[in-house]
Amino acid sequence: ATNKNHQLRHVESMNILPSGAGNIPELNAVILGESLASEEHDLVFPNPKFSQHALVSSPQKYLEMYTRSIEDPAGFWSDIASEFYWKKKWGQQVCSQNLDVTKGRINIEWFKGGLTNICYNCLDKNIESGNGDKIALHWEGNELNIDGSLTYKQLLEKVCQLANFLKDNGVKKGDTVIVYLPMIMELPITMLACARIGAVHSVVFAGYSAESLHQRVMDCKPKIVITCNAVMRGKKVINLKEIVDAALSESSQNGVFVATCLTFENESAMKKEDTKWLKGRDVWWQDVVPKCSTTCDVEWVDAEDPLFLLYTSGSTGKPKGVLHTTGGYMIYTATTFKYAFDYKDTDIYWCTADCGWITGHSYVTYGPLLNGATVVLYEGVPNYPDAGRCWDIVDKYKVTIFYTAPTLVRSLMRDGDDYVTRYSRKSLRVLGSVGEPINPSAWRWFFNVVGDSRCPISDTWWQTETGGFMITPIPGAWPQKPGSATLPFFGVQPVIVDEKGNEIDGECSGYLCVKNSWPGAFRTLYGDHERYETTYFSAFPGYYFSGDGCSRDKDGYHWLTGRVDDVINVSGHRIGTAEVESALVSHPQCAEAAVVGVEHEVKGQGIYAFVTLVDGIPYSEELRKSLVLVVRNQIGAFAAPDRIHWAPSLPKTRSGKIMRRILRKIASKQLDELGDISTLADPSVVDQLIALADS
Ligand code: WTA
Repeated sequence: ATNKNHQLRHVESMNILPSGAGNIPELNAVILGESLASEEHDLVFPNPKFSQHALVSSPQKYLEMYTRSIEDPAGFWSDIASEFYWKKKWGQQVCSQNLDVTKGRINIEWFKGGLTNICYNCLDKNIESGNGDKIALHWEGNELNIDGSLTYKQLLEKVCQLANFLKDNGVKKGDTVIVYLPMIMELPITMLACARIGAVHSVVFAGYSAESLHQRVMDCKPKIVITCNAVMRGKKVINLKEIVDAALSESSQNGVFVATCLTFENESAMKKEDTKWLKGRDVWWQDVVPKCSTTCDVEWVDAEDPLFLLYTSGSTGKPKGVLHTTGGYMIYTATTFKYAFDYKDTDIYWCTADCGWITGHSYVTYGPLLNGATVVLYEGVPNYPDAGRCWDIVDKYKVTIFYTAPTLVRSLMRDGDDYVTRYSRKSLRVLGSVGEPINPSAWRWFFNVVGDSRCPISDTWWQTETGGFMITPIPGAWPQKPGSATLPFFGVQPVIVDEKGNEIDGECSGYLCVKNSWPGAFRTLYGDHERYETTYFSAFPGYYFSGDGCSRDKDGYHWLTGRVDDVINVSGHRIGTAEVESALVSHPQCAEAAVVGVEHEVKGQGIYAFVTLVDGIPYSEELRKSLVLVVRNQIGAFAAPDRIHWAPSLPKTRSGKIMRRILRKIASKQLDELGDISTLADPSVVDQLIALADS
């Protein structure tokens, strides 16, 4: 090792299973170390000291647990569920798990008949077991000198106060609450308060536009909306209340009237006096919530009662309300958090995701708190005041587990090692990645520079729909390969199928599906069970179809290759091409739009939009700007197209279908890979588009 920092750490020995052990063929190769030797440069072995103390210390241990989880899922998950508090134990049948649409309705259930409460398990249970004075949340504000913290006991009191306020305002079990808050402590407090009384929260990422918020209000008709007046993102003030006002006024014009808008005064961003107010509807959080009692009885709910709704993008313009229920989700997020991060009681955990996305639900709020962890929340942007902020936060709170997205890793990598190495980071123990495939060079930088070649990286593959990790390394248990999410979590049987839906074995690539049900799976799309069945279970009957492509190498490791549907992944955010297109065509001068994803150095994928204009309208810089603006206004800034490409006409088949395959090639400048264009109604369109590419 000439340069320690830039060498992957290899250790001589790993725990090798005796041959013949286990019955998962693809894992045997890993365990036996057979084929691995040839690819040694690609392997990062766990540090033996790490493995020694790890929850899963060897491939053998994993294999034992994994085998049981597949052969006896009911027994495996019941044992884990028994470690949580249940007011009443679940019924005889632990799970019902038909994933085959041809055999009847998809109706996934886990622990049905059991009565529990996830808020109780996150808070009361940890307090009862002696952790009441442990810090539950550390909050770091946008500015360097603004922070705060809450112990488990204090958090429970805050949650109870809000829960009582909600009850006093008519929110009952099963009612929906929309939450439009930035990363302040009131966000997890609100989620937990809803859960405590059996209300269903629907957190809308506070970067979504008024139009998107309005759509969600129309879809789930909340009893109440909870927001704050403003937030600072770096040096910028974002007036959230104004966005909520616009959304709610549009909703009420369309017949959905929200009676109460509870607004937290986020003092460091905006004062009360500067906030627009609708008398009768708007209520200041600080005026009413602190007056409520700090104790609140728990609403015991069935394991299959809904916990939350979270909207995500699909291949049509209409966002899908992914519905998760209580019991299975609780057990699954707790267990995945514990094993994929090798969680220990002394850990300080920071996940940079926003609670507006699934990662913030499962791995900022529920998973960690169920384990009694100390969680860091950060309100601001990662490069404010400079690119060293993350490591400043790591050192300040002595963060041991740091979970983030490849896009952030790539952007910090670009800013240079100095910002990282000027901080100690010696508390770090485990790193994590989520949201998109992490390219090997970013992986190596994360490992070598951020983690000083000491910390394993959990590259966790999962989705809003899956509730929790599906394919992920378990640190210490087996060697990692930069860029691979490695092997399935307990209870998950991923399969790769070809276009006909046949499972393919061995080294292969195809569509990633799951063969069995797992406790954290979503149960339906809100109000549209049919769309749930057609989108996820009909393409390949018998399987849950993820929408991702994947290949498996000869060691059985999984390599995610990105979405195979009309979804683009921009900085780890899922955006439907159809959503962007429908925003663009709502512009009065845009006649037609076709959106494709292109490779982007930092964001993973960028949004590339081809637009045709209404007859007689000339293309101009001004028009380009207003097209981008219309997308920002309708969806949110994070969905703004990186590139608008004026298209006098689009390549279409004779039946009028837009050939996106060709557009993708033009967008990514792979002109020698255009393929057969003879089926186009007018092949000359292609040359015209290429000529306009650089204009
Ligand atoms: C992608 C985020 C590769 C994938 C938790 C998936 C990943 C979509 C990874 C879900 C990963 C997420 N490696 N791709 N580790 N994690 N993805 O619903 O395309 O916002 O289908 O959930 O992100 O995005 P979602």
